[in-house]
Amino acid sequence: MIRTALLTLTVTTCALAQDAIGVFARHCLGCHGASQMSGLDMRTREGMLRGGGRGPAMVPGKAAESLLYKAIRRDGELKMPPGKPVLSAADVTAIAQWIDSGAPWNEKALQTQSTWWSFRPVQRPDGNHTIDSFLGRALRAQGLTDAPPADRRTLIRRLSYDLHGLPPTPEEVGAFVANKDPQAYPKLIDRLLASPRYGERWGRHWLDVVRYADTGGFETDVLLANAWRYRDYVIRSFNNDKPYNVFVQEQIAADEIWPDNLDLDGAYELPKSKLDNLEKRIGTSLYTLGALPVENTFFGDQYRSEWQADALETTSAAFLGLTMGCARCHDHKFDPLSQRDYYRLSAVFAGSEDREVPIVSQMAIFEFTRYQTRWVMADQLKAKLARLGGKNAKFDLTPSERDERESLLRQIGEAYVRAPAPVAKANLLMHTAPVPDTHVLQRGDWKQKGEKVRPGFPAALGEAAEIVEPETSWFIPRRRKALAEWLTSPQHPLTARVMVNRVWQGHFGRGLVATSNDFGRQGDPPTHPELLDWLAAEFMRNNWSVKSLHRQILLSDAYQRSSAALAANMEKDPENRYLWRVSRRRLEGEAIRDAVLAANGSLNTKMYGQPVVPPLSREEADGMRDMSQWPITSDSSEHNRRSVYLFVKRSFQNPMLEIFDAPDTSASCPRRDSSTIAPQSLALMNSEYMQLQAERFAERLKKEAASGTAAQVDRAWRLALSRAPSADEARRAAAYADRAGLARLCLLLFNMSEFLYVD
Ligand code: HEC
Ligand code: HEC
Repeated sequence: MIRTALLTLTVTTCALAQDAIGVFARHCLGCHGASQMSGLDMRTREGMLRGGGRGPAMVPGKAAESLLYKAIRRDGELKMPPGKPVLSAADVTAIAQWIDSGAPWNEKALQTQSTWWSFRPVQRPDGNHTIDSFLGRALRAQGLTDAPPADRRTLIRRLSYDLHGLPPTPEEVGAFVANKDPQAYPKLIDRLLASPRYGERWGRHWLDVVRYADTGGFETDVLLANAWRYRDYVIRSFNNDKPYNVFVQEQIAADEIWPDNLDLDGAYELPKSKLDNLEKRIGTSLYTLGALPVENTFFGDQYRSEWQADALETTSAAFLGLTMGCARCHDHKFDPLSQRDYYRLSAVFAGSEDREVPIVSQMAIFEFTRYQTRWVMADQLKAKLARLGGKNAKFDLTPSERDERESLLRQIGEAYVRAPAPVAKANLLMHTAPVPDTHVLQRGDWKQKGEKVRPGFPAALGEAAEIVEPETSWFIPRRRKALAEWLTSPQHPLTARVMVNRVWQGHFGRGLVATSNDFGRQGDPPTHPELLDWLAAEFMRNNWSVKSLHRQILLSDAYQRSSAALAANMEKDPENRYLWRVSRRRLEGEAIRDAVLAANGSLNTKMYGQPVVPPLSREEADGMRDMSQWPITSDSSEHNRRSVYLFVKRSFQNPMLEIFDAPDTSASCPRRDSSTIAPQSLALMNSEYMQLQAERFAERLKKEAASGTAAQVDRAWRLALSRAPSADEARRAAAYADRAGLARLCLLLFNMSEFLYVD
């Protein structure tokens, strides 16, 4: 009997707490959570008892005397929530009953009721759905009509740029337009997804998100000599359709999840299992290629604090879609992320550091060390040269000294040529011992250490297992493993949503959540929340396959619509938020450069390897203080490789890519800008680079359409615009080419908005 009564009582108080806390979560915590407006923190019972500037906000047992109850009744000076309608009678009653019954607390209720949509678990909508069923419902609700389907030429051009960042060849266009097979479109999607060009295109999108570069930035802008291995790893991962959860795990914690000593076997060839493990571990290079001022290495603690901040910010932006960096110096002002949460997550990276390690067999290292004496010899010759120069300035050397200098220079050159090539290395995350403590840093200042914190994950994002560790600093941490497993758990509210949204953005130009790096309160809410959740659920069900996600999106009617601007829709939804058409998009700098090279036939599709440093024109080189910082690739056929392989120097961006809104590499770039500025047309029209490319295009046309101008114009249109010229265009273009030269016509083509934009 007593037992039953107790149980009933517990259930009722629980329900009361649940209801009241639910109301707070929905209506109050936005301002009285981490942001503590008027000094009031309603995230805890204590916070309400303490109250804000006006004193206690609540008196347990006495609703009528409680300030917060008066505030929601609006019968005094305070009217809460401000600027919003009065709470419903049911909500007001729930709060009154809860206070009157002594204000029982229930931590769980607060978490499960977490207000913010993106912190709630993914909810797969019931029933049968397709992308178009979700979009169609919203379209009809807005009174919008969908644009007609795009024609097949538009479709193949759109698809090629979307999946490859390259135009289709005229032959591919012809074949697709003429293909009567009802499966032609799905087959085209599969063919494009299977091509290695796909990984180069989508790998580049990912490199934006993880602030990829080949140098460290700032004044020193040190070379990150092995960063390109990470770039290649990303391209291979996309091409192999590596499940996204594995991709996340490898980058954060390959070494902790698949521990394998990298010590090299005594064989000439490394065994396959070792190479596979090495490949996973190159994922962790993500944390070795951030922008870091070398000045920060002056104090160990300062360097560590900056490095951990970069690691945390990149992780939260790329994988969580949250601006956690905002909680470094104070509690997050908008999202329920405390400064303590920040340092707990930051502690995950304590005990890890960037280390450069050889990635070849022990035999290869011996092979190097065996002939390392040649490096010693070269060093000795250099030292001798320095002594000779140190005696006089080099201009007043005696004739015999001058001879000696000449001879030394030749010997140094020869010694250098004979010296063994350094062994291949990679920068990977490795462990430090002991594991340093992490403290909350007041105002983010590394000198002002506050409370010591243990590693952990933000409470507002749901429950996670404690990271259990021994009570000593001497242990091998598994903190990143815990982070990677937490992030890739199917219960995690953000990981799948954030990635699905990025892929959607890549196809439609705008995510279902437009702010793809901010799923918090400052970001935009999703235009189609159910669709986002459905896609996220499907993504996980399909084993996190990115290629399956592409297929699903590309097969939708929405993706295959034309870009026609229907007048009635333009009035209601000019921004096309409801996707009644496909928005026209300007190509990114990389795609423009690659398309130019593809059109004129000079694109070199070699994959992978050291970054390519192309020559600069004289004006471009003016921007460079020290040309030794721009070591031009000696093999000129390399200069025509795809843009994803170009050297990314943080302090000096490739001028052509820069004017077309290249990403900022100091922090994660969620989405490229698409500006229209005068220097773009100046560069496309007047730069030495573009003139050279136009000449190459003309040479190609003369070779491939030898019969005369008319044929050359036709071929030019098909190569650059994927269509034949109209009769009028053909006539005027031929007249222009005859007057100004074919190369001039080619340059004009590269400047047409039809070339630079995709419908
Ligand atoms: C949009 C932001 C916002 C929301 C939402 C909001 N408040 Fe407030 N709240 C404020 C501001 C601003 C003040 C200070 C007002 C003033 O001093 O005039 C305040 C003050 C208060 C105070 C007095 C604190 C003190 O001691 O000064 C109480 C109690 C309070 N709010 C309760 C609530 C409750 C309960 C809810 C939810 C039903 C709520 N508020 C929702 C912004 C908000
Ligand atoms: C390097 C430290 C640091 C970082 C990082 C930081 N802030 Fe602040 N912020 C401050 C300081 C210092 C103040 C003033 C004192 C305070 O309000 O805590 C402040 C104040 C604020 C305020 C209150 C301003 C006002 O008028 O009351 C807001 C809002 C804010 N920050 C938002 C942000 C956001 C959003 C981010 C992330 C994009 C961010 N902060 C990142 C240091 C920082």
